[in-house]
Amino acid sequence: MQNDSFLRACRGERPERTPIWLMRQAGRYLPEYRAVRAKVSFEELCRRPDLCAEVTLQPIDRLGVDAAILFSDILVVFDALGVDVRFEPSPVIATPVRTRADVDRLQWIDPREACHYVYAAVRACKAALADRVPLIGFCGAPFTTLSYLVEGKTSREFEHVKSLMFCEPGLFGHMMSRLTDLLIDYLRGQVEAGVDALQVFDSWAGALAPDDYREHVQPHTARLCAAVREFGVPLILFTRGNANLLAYSAEMPADVVGVDWSIDLARAIDVVGPERVVQGNLDPFALLGPPALVERKARAVVAAGRRARAHIFNLGHGISRHTDPAIARLLVDTVHDA
Ligand code: CP3
Repeated sequence: MQNDSFLRACRGERPERTPIWLMRQAGRYLPEYRAVRAKVSFEELCRRPDLCAEVTLQPIDRLGVDAAILFSDILVVFDALGVDVRFEPSPVIATPVRTRADVDRLQWIDPREACHYVYAAVRACKAALADRVPLIGFCGAPFTTLSYLVEGKTSREFEHVKSLMFCEPGLFGHMMSRLTDLLIDYLRGQVEAGVDALQVFDSWAGALAPDDYREHVQPHTARLCAAVREFGVPLILFTRGNANLLAYSAEMPADVVGVDWSIDLARAIDVVGPERVVQGNLDPFALLGPPALVERKARAVVAAGRRARAHIFNLGHGISRHTDPAIARLLVDTVHDA
């Protein structure tokens, strides 16, 4: 690997320059991404390995980040359930799964068949990257995945999935457990296809009260992480939206603790302990500010990260579509020079 700073930091080393990549680094803020999307829908793009490789590499060339993340989506795994999802651009599932009868209709196809195009995309990305930087694969955590399946869209209040959890904890647990098995298989396939690291996105865990997270969700996510770690590549767990959950996230068997922007990184390191590797956590919308502000805030995050065993710079959530690519480049250069 020509640039292995990201992988070294995952293993707890401190490379000379702080490694950086950005969640959603391939996306609508890049004109070259929009040019590809002018020709194909998002659904088709995810199923075209050649185009996935093209857009995966766009931010590598333009920004100089230290890792690539596979272009795909956490919801394409629903192909393994026979559940159709449309992106408008927000995800919409026409037939949400809410009852025992709905659950019984799910198909549970081997993801290596149903999502064959994901693995083809991994191989295409690896070939195109030619070992310049590592490739990160990913999936949604069981709760985040289940909440889309049950709510049928990005939810504000999560009333359906919470009702299921409180009214039918047996069915909720059954679904979480089966999804966990599916996601383990799904990630195993990504590692076999060649990804160098994995990130699990628990983007909606913060919708839960901490005690409910602990009782109903954490055991499944922990099982996913423990199984995935056996595959031999570093694992990042990103739990978003509730700084209370950071302490629980730090207990999980993952190599890197992802930190969202709702907490100061210094404080986050106090919570998870100085022996952990952290990833984060600039507010993505800070990139809408002037260059001097971006530089100042980026340096502050790098400085805070020095107290951790190792630090991978990232945003505290996905980059906004309104970001100027030149500012994203300035961020990468600032972090590398800090
Ligand atoms: O990070 C990357 O560059 C890799 C690609 C990636 C996408 N989605 C591409 C995408 C990754 C890692 C994801 C993960 C994902 N998808 C998450 C977890 C991370 C997070 O943001 O919390 C979630 C919750 C989803 C579900 C999803 N997919 C949503 C909510 C949306 C709409 C969001 C929006 O910006 O409108 C999508 C669509 C999507 N996924 C887009 C991209 C680039 C925009 C689609 C388009 O081109 O029109």
